[in-house]
Amino acid sequence: MIRKAVLPVAGFGTRCLPASKAIPKEMITIVDRPVIQYVVEEAVAAGIRDIILVTHGSKGAIENHFDKNFELEASLEAKGKYDLLAELRSIVPASVNIISVRQPEPLGLGHAVLCARPVIGDASPFAVLLPDVLVDNRDQPRTDLAGMIASFDATGRAQLMVEQVAAEDVSKYGIVAPRGEEPQAGECCALDGVVEKPDTVSAPSRLAVIGRYILPGEIFTLLAETPPGAGGEIQLTDAIETLRQQKGVDAWRMTGHTHDCGHQLGYLEATLAYASRHPRFGQEFRALLTRYAAEG
Ligand code: G1P
Repeated sequence: MIRKAVLPVAGFGTRCLPASKAIPKEMITIVDRPVIQYVVEEAVAAGIRDIILVTHGSKGAIENHFDKNFELEASLEAKGKYDLLAELRSIVPASVNIISVRQPEPLGLGHAVLCARPVIGDASPFAVLLPDVLVDNRDQPRTDLAGMIASFDATGRAQLMVEQVAAEDVSKYGIVAPRGEEPQAGECCALDGVVEKPDTVSAPSRLAVIGRYILPGEIFTLLAETPPGAGGEIQLTDAIETLRQQKGVDAWRMTGHTHDCGHQLGYLEATLAYASRHPRFGQEFRALLTRYAAEG
């Protein structure tokens, strides 16, 4: 059972400027809630109970969003705004803990995950969710994260969520080398390698690691020994490659699709997708879309 998840949120979000100048990029709104809330909801729906935010002093708004705001709740109660009150209280269900640790220096994603070691320990497997990526499993019987957890529970092997990207984009991602045939959506396969940000010519495939991982606790020992790699940063991918050589690692080919909320067009698309089917605003939003489409 995977109960813990690490969400690295310490990065500055330069790709989201100027929106992210004074608020964390994870707090940018998609319809009626910040991006980070969708990611926490995804984790909780897959059975996660301890969310470890690896954060930075400039990102207190994220912690505040998941904290109780007593004065606000008392004021809503006094005004009889019970629906809103219930909505605020459901942001973090009572069974879920939000824990934060600091990443003291921006030394890379691998280093950020390593900062969660004192909270998780070396004996528990855990999930990593990169909050730039929204995973949309609309109308599917099971989310990708739940599928990855089930696969880990069955095999004990680390799972990396992958999807196919364009050849010219492989240098932006960790890229996997599947053993044998590439897996179908909703299936996993063993890997012969995983490499961070290869060039187009040397990339072993077009299957990119996209923001969701299930890892065993042993990864912390490997991360602590991982030297800086691509971009001079301590790369999670490099520690995963060592784990693969020692114990094997699987790629999980996703069934849903992703919105990259680390840049403007990505969150605009996410806004379209989530607003169109929003229970309260969806119908009127679709009418707006039709009107603007007609006006060209
Ligand atoms: C990180 C990981 C990379 C992964 C990507 C998308 O890169 O290092 O392996 O493919 O996220 O999830 P970044 O986007 O932080 O450069």
